[in-house]
Amino acid sequence: MAQISHWHILGAGSMGCLWAYYLAKAGHQVSLIVRDTDCCDDKEQIIECVIDDAIFTEKARVVQLRQKPAIDNLLICLKAHQTPPLIAELRPVIKANTTIVLLQNGLGNQELIANQFSNNAVYAAVTTEAALSQQKFKVKHTGKGQTSIGPLSDTTDVDLLEKISCALHCVEEQQINKMLWEKLIINCCINPLSCVCQCKNGALANNKEAIELIEKIVHECIDIAKHADIDISFSVMYQKVITVINKTAENTSSMRQDVLNHRKTEIDYMNGYMIKLARQHSLASPVNAQLTQQVKSLLPV
Ligand code: PAF
Repeated sequence: MAQISHWHILGAGSMGCLWAYYLAKAGHQVSLIVRDTDCCDDKEQIIECVIDDAIFTEKARVVQLRQKPAIDNLLICLKAHQTPPLIAELRPVIKANTTIVLLQNGLGNQELIANQFSNNAVYAAVTTEAALSQQKFKVKHTGKGQTSIGPLSDTTDVDLLEKISCALHCVEEQQINKMLWEKLIINCCINPLSCVCQCKNGALANNKEAIELIEKIVHECIDIAKHADIDISFSVMYQKVITVINKTAENTSSMRQDVLNHRKTEIDYMNGYMIKLARQHSLASPVNAQLTQQVKSLLPV
């Protein structure tokens, strides 16, 4: 390996552990940042990764947020709504040359972080890797994919692809904003509908009402996207949603997993983000509003 980097990973869910495992396996130094109450002080932690029913292990360090570790490279794999308060806490340990990569569903935090750390190299990532959390620090790699990484800031890190190089395939993407929007629209369709219809992703393709709603959501979202200077055609976007439904047919969407586990969902950063943007541009967003309300009604306030 050409370069050994030290990555701090914020968020020890499925994606956080998947990256921790593969980065450590490639020889990088990995520290998972946890919240103060989660565990004891700085310690070594075994990260387990299940691949094709075999269990592989790598070592990472676990550090507490209150230890304020010195961070060279930060990979944020938190749920969207957990991000703003934790980033605020980490602010004192983000140095001028810390590289930040945000890997999460939804939109809203990308802008927030790029603005808060305007002098840093800040990147967003969109991945098609599939992973399922099995227990704390144990993840199942359920599907191989690709991770596209692109800059959100003018400051860039020319070594980033080398720093993050491991067996997870990464490519540089200059139009990351468009990719984030496409992923957002896919999430705005699949995530709430899989909750409302109480089904795995694949079942949506055989549900006439869900398909009709997907057409309406895509229309509504691409109209809103135009006001963020994102031009996406209906037929291309609709086909992308159907392709992801078919490719992830056996998956329980992340939002449905949250609902089933009585956890707060990311709806405010998906359909809720669409509603907010629509309002700013005096556009109507009735389908996104209806789905947001339906998903919220599935959980206690
Ligand atoms: O949030 C999710 O579950 C995933 O982003 C997706 C693509 C909808 C597949 O389940």
